[in-house]
Amino acid sequence: MSTTLETPVNNGTTSVLADISSRYDHAGRDALIPMLQDIQEKEGYLSREAIRHVGRHLGLSASKIYGVATFYNQFRFHPPGKYHFMVCRGTACHVKGSERLLNSLMTLLKLKPGETSRDALFSLEVVACMGACGLAPVVSVNGEFYAKVTPRKLAEMIQECREKEAKNGNN
Ligand code: FES
Repeated sequence: MSTTLETPVNNGTTSVLADISSRYDHAGRDALIPMLQDIQEKEGYLSREAIRHVGRHLGLSASKIYGVATFYNQFRFHPPGKYHFMVCRGTACHVKGSERLLNSLMTLLKLKPGETSRDALFSLEVVACMGACGLAPVVSVNGEFYAKVTPRKLAEMIQECREKEAKNGNN
């Protein structure tokens, strides 16, 4: 996974990082994963600045943190796109064909899990059970759940996003 980022530091990010650091004031290195989770929850991804900040706080090198974080599928290193697609790969969804959905999305969006499109419109993520197994296979877009999704449905959803953008003059 690529870790090259060109993310400007902004004051919002700085205050989020300061706030999270204060919550882990005397924490040791075992706080690494919870800290990264908290930052991703607030910021949507782990910026280079966030990695450096955590490194300074816990006394770890950036390369060590990337090494640990890239081991887990849950962390993103790019800002999510305007339409963030999450494919559930939990057992129930797997049994109902989520792999086919993931492959369709990868083809339709020309993205791999963890990536964001160049125009920042789409991003793709694979997650474990979303807690809606009765609706399997489940895909969510910006947190909204879609039940019993098919590859055809995915193509329609993406088309709708593109049409919406074109209508708004963003494409
Ligand atoms: S396995 Fe997909 S929602 Fe539970």
